Amino acid sequence: MAKFRGKRKVLEQVRIEGIAAEGKCIARVNDEVLFVEGVAPGDVVDVLVTRKKKNFMEGKPLTFHEYSKDRIEPFCQHFGVCGGCKWQHIPYDIQLKYKHQQVIDNLERIGKIPLPEISPILGSSKIKYYRNKLEYTFSNWKWLTQDEIATGEELDRRGLGFHVPGSFDKILDIETCYHQPDPSNEIRLSVRKYCLENDVPFFDLKRRTGNVRNLIIRNSSLDQWMVIVQFAMEHEKNMGLMEHIKTAFPHIHSLQYVINDKGNETFHDLEVMLYYGEAHITEAMEDVRFRVGPKSFYQTNAAQAYELYKIARDYADLKGDEVVYDLYTGTGTIANFIAKDAKKVIGLEYVEAAIEDAKLNSEINGVTNTEFYAGDMRELLNDDFMSNHDRPDVIITDPPRAGMHEDVIGMLLKIEAQKIVYVSCNPATQARDLALLDAKYSVKKVQPVDMFPQTHHVENVVLLVKN
Ligand SMILES: C[S@@+](CC[C@H](N)C(=O)[O-])C[C@H]1O[C@@H](n2cnc3c(N)ncnc32)[C@H](O)[C@@H]1O
Repeated sequence: MAKFRGKRKVLEQVRIEGIAAEGKCIARVNDEVLFVEGVAPGDVVDVLVTRKKKNFMEGKPLTFHEYSKDRIEPFCQHFGVCGGCKWQHIPYDIQLKYKHQQVIDNLERIGKIPLPEISPILGSSKIKYYRNKLEYTFSNWKWLTQDEIATGEELDRRGLGFHVPGSFDKILDIETCYHQPDPSNEIRLSVRKYCLENDVPFFDLKRRTGNVRNLIIRNSSLDQWMVIVQFAMEHEKNMGLMEHIKTAFPHIHSLQYVINDKGNETFHDLEVMLYYGEAHITEAMEDVRFRVGPKSFYQTNAAQAYELYKIARDYADLKGDEVVYDLYTGTGTIANFIAKDAKKVIGLEYVEAAIEDAKLNSEINGVTNTEFYAGDMRELLNDDFMSNHDRPDVIITDPPRAGMHEDVIGMLLKIEAQKIVYVSCNPATQARDLALLDAKYSVKKVQPVDMFPQTHHVENVVLLVKN
């Protein structure tokens, strides 16, 4: 049944069937596909159609007639407004079931290649407090929730929190976040309190006035903490805030700040000033140490990244005499992790600063059999490179969400390494790439891994062996 609300169509009594790509729920209405956000499989809802295309519709729930028996109470007070953990209302075992199915669907429908049995998805041991980096934004005009508006009171609009999804200037003030263990919440709340009480000017995201603009909190599995504050300008009150953080949280290993008057909050091109402690924190995986500076990338769920790398290592099954290429190596985490099992590891990566970190990580671990090169994979991994370097017996590849460029896959087919271990954070592009690699390779093992509980994201590791 459908009725209209203004010009917009409302579909009534829609039963939500499952979860589709990008975490949206799916239903079918008169043979038309409908994607809905903010619902769970098993819910029966009236849906306001917000977008109509030739092959599908999108909508949002208006009225719930029945709640799915699988629903659970979200644990976070900010659920539904904050974009962080959109699957909190779905029990973790069911989240895993959908993620596992998503991998199978992608490999079967897009890959269309012969597949072995797909291993059960490896869940994360932590389903809260698993992130090691959070980035908060200050705003002098925070986003108000419906409850806050309903109070009718004149509220202080200064806040510190996350961007409301899809909006650069709407900041949701956060009371408690379940992403990172404490003292993360304590640090944020204390910083906010200090700035409110001492009238440190909160940044105005539209007019670009005000001073204190961004707070980054990082931690490592060795319980080392790094705090970085971004100010829009030099100001007499800046150092008061830095001193407050130092005194209130003496446990912080690295306290730094940045003066950033740019149009955005990225600071890879800016100088980071050390206020207190060391310039980096240290992350550990078995006996390998990684130096994490304010600009360094490190996998966000470190404990689960270790599980992921162990699977990649198992799939590579190195005997010690192999040359391994680690494509899209980032800061060389996989390369350094497996270096002791190989004759040589060559890591390739786009970001030059990451390559510098990768080299440094080899140096501090006394690893001497790695080489790292910076450049766009499509241009770097060419015939010239192959004539000047040892050919790989094993290739480990961990591309970004877009997957590998066709030319890179063409090169892999030309190189003909005995094995390829393909780590992916997007099973759809992975499936597309596997279909091309099928010309010379067979998929022998598939292991989905959940790195990001409470979200729709899923990681997948595939072992390919040359025919
Ligand atoms: C999924 S991350 C892999 C990180 C690394 N393997 C790790 O576990 O820490 C993908 C990496 O690919 C790099 N990258 C993206 N596009 C690239 C390109 N065209 N050429 C080379 N590297 C690229 C990114 O900078 C990023 O470091």
